[in-house]
Amino acid sequence: MNILADKIILLGVTGGIAAYKAVDLCSKLVQAGAHVQVLMTYTAQKFVTPLTFGAISGRQPITDLWQLYEGGKIGHVALAQEADLFIIAPLSAHTMAGLAHGTADGPITATALSTRAPLLLAPAMESRMWEHPATQANLQTLIQRGAYLVGPEVGRLASGGVGIGRMSEPEVIVEHARIVLSRKGPLSGLRITITAGGTREWMDPVRFMGNRSSGKMGVALARVARDLGAHVNLIYGAMTVDPPIGVHLVPAMRAEDMLRATLNLLPETDVLISAAAIADFRPVVTYETKLKKETDQEIRLERTPDVLRAVAERRAEIGMPRLVVGFAAETSDLVANARSKMERKNLEMIILNDVTAADAGFEVDTNRVTILTRDGGIESLPLMDKEAVAYHILQRVRGLLGAVGLGWSPGAGSLLP
Ligand code: CTP
Repeated sequence: MNILADKIILLGVTGGIAAYKAVDLCSKLVQAGAHVQVLMTYTAQKFVTPLTFGAISGRQPITDLWQLYEGGKIGHVALAQEADLFIIAPLSAHTMAGLAHGTADGPITATALSTRAPLLLAPAMESRMWEHPATQANLQTLIQRGAYLVGPEVGRLASGGVGIGRMSEPEVIVEHARIVLSRKGPLSGLRITITAGGTREWMDPVRFMGNRSSGKMGVALARVARDLGAHVNLIYGAMTVDPPIGVHLVPAMRAEDMLRATLNLLPETDVLISAAAIADFRPVVTYETKLKKETDQEIRLERTPDVLRAVAERRAEIGMPRLVVGFAAETSDLVANARSKMERKNLEMIILNDVTAADAGFEVDTNRVTILTRDGGIESLPLMDKEAVAYHILQRVRGLLGAVGLGWSPGAGSLLP
């Protein structure tokens, strides 16, 4: 269910103060279910001990080119064949030069030569070293050869100065690892547009009508769709979580903005999933200056556009999107209300949320949904985290696409920008 689960990931750690952050990176990968084999250069061991990585990964780090691996195999040869991904974090200027020139003087460079797994590089070095033409030329060589790059960032460096050269944070490297692994996933070639978060309808420059949506369900859908290899557009309003990287982001705060952004993307959308909590009403007047409390105010409301209804009309003209999925936030007559919403909005699938439950729906990390399909299908899922829910929904989307012969077949495609 999680793209990192059971993946064999090599984590090369070179000498640099950021080696301590590689410990956290290793831990995050292991927690996500990956099998992590750490390889360390001689200088990396001056910053962090192999014992630390060994304890976290449950495997003895490879620190020597001729160290034997499980079953008496030579480490850098055996590992190279098994790996799904090779991350080098932090990557020093020295090891970068070795990779670019194909040296094999240590476990990391030798394994990089032997493996055909994708290479994800997280450089960390002083700004002047990073900016040096030699380093930049090495970088270009590696990128042209197909290596993926994350960072370096601008920030505080080991020297105490501030500049470019800081290694990306472990969670950012994990996200990039997920993106690299998603290439050629089961949804590759598919273009999915997702709306997420809540809208805001402004009364004056400081006040708005909003709602409880956190954006977590839409963001989970975007991340999981990305991990499965889809090209993802995320149209988002107010959210309490960050949007994922590796997806095309389109901010849209008001219902009107959501409508425009969604209609714009329709011709290039195979599947639309409308997870946003879009306002049904907005103030008739938005005041240009802040309303004063001395004056009694009566806010008159008018209907906002119904995005999915507008989509249904446009879809009838252009034949896209091929599949439309809505959400139904209900508090009573759950299934009947959701079914009639599915009909009214011409959806192939609707995800029913009981928004009165404390552990599901708005704001929380978990959800309990029922998936209803136009052909009468109904599937109630138990309480699970929102990424697991997203995975189930996307599985069903994939099934429907196949079942109704919408001309989609998995293909190659890279998500990396
Ligand atoms: N939706 C929409 N445009 C709106 C409001 C909602 O496209 N102006 C979408 C939501 O993103 C969701 C679906 O319609 O996918 C159902 O939203 P919901 O709030 O449950 O229903 P409403 O259409 O607002 O209907 P009601 O107020 O009768 O529950």
